[in-house]
Amino acid sequence: MDNATRLQYLEAMGIDAWLPRHQPVVIPRAAVYLENPVENVERLEQPEGRQDVPSKQTVSSVIETVNAEFPRHSVSSPSSHANDQIWRDLQHEVSLCQACSLCKTRTQTVFGVGNKQASWMLIGEAPGQNEDLQGEPFVGKAGQLLTEMLRAISLKREEVYIANMLKCRPPNNRDPQTEEVAACKNFLQQQIELIQPKIILAVGRIAAQNLLDTQQPLAKLRGVQHQLHNIPLIVIHHPAYLLRSLLEKAKAWSDLQFALSVYQKLEKLNHVETVT
Ligand code: URA
Repeated sequence: MDNATRLQYLEAMGIDAWLPRHQPVVIPRAAVYLENPVENVERLEQPEGRQDVPSKQTVSSVIETVNAEFPRHSVSSPSSHANDQIWRDLQHEVSLCQACSLCKTRTQTVFGVGNKQASWMLIGEAPGQNEDLQGEPFVGKAGQLLTEMLRAISLKREEVYIANMLKCRPPNNRDPQTEEVAACKNFLQQQIELIQPKIILAVGRIAAQNLLDTQQPLAKLRGVQHQLHNIPLIVIHHPAYLLRSLLEKAKAWSDLQFALSVYQKLEKLNHVETVT
């Protein structure tokens, strides 16, 4: 993405200045606004061919054993080969899933993307049309905005891990149904256990309500530090909503600043615990 487009995204989020990772640099305000999303459809390769797939139970129990033997922050870690195999098995298991009716309408499953040892994990709702075609979460206009939102807090897309609650696209992008969320829950749970992120961002109301098992409105869920399996979870606006609602864009920036402040506090605490 070129700088002009990047500035448009930042402007759309209401961000006047943005801090690259090492030295603060002030980026001048761009006097442009974001155009309406126009979906850009690209068809990429289909998922890999069949292999033998272990049962869910097997994958879960392997993860538990690996996590027990090699806690995230211990000096030793499982061989990357063993870990790669666990990820491959899980992804393959997802690709064959027929636990709900979404398997009938999907082009392919959308597993997740990014750094498997990420400190930050982002969880969205479900793949849309672009994601269903490309097999990767958040690749449409909303995804581009999400990438820019991450850049605004000095995170590169490839540094974090991005997944959705649902691995298959609901037809016409309708809201996920309870039974679909339930059928897919175990996959997300295993991704979280494997990554052991330090912080989770729930992207949008639907993801937040389902992950936190609440009906509270987004306004109540934002700006609060929640916990998911003992991991701090922060709720942020969904970029698709931000693309539609000019007035809400500045709130996206405050969500991110809040998430960053929670993360930095945790890092400070961890540092104190390590040196004392
Ligand atoms: N919206 C989501 O919640 N996830 C995606 O992957 C794309 C759009």
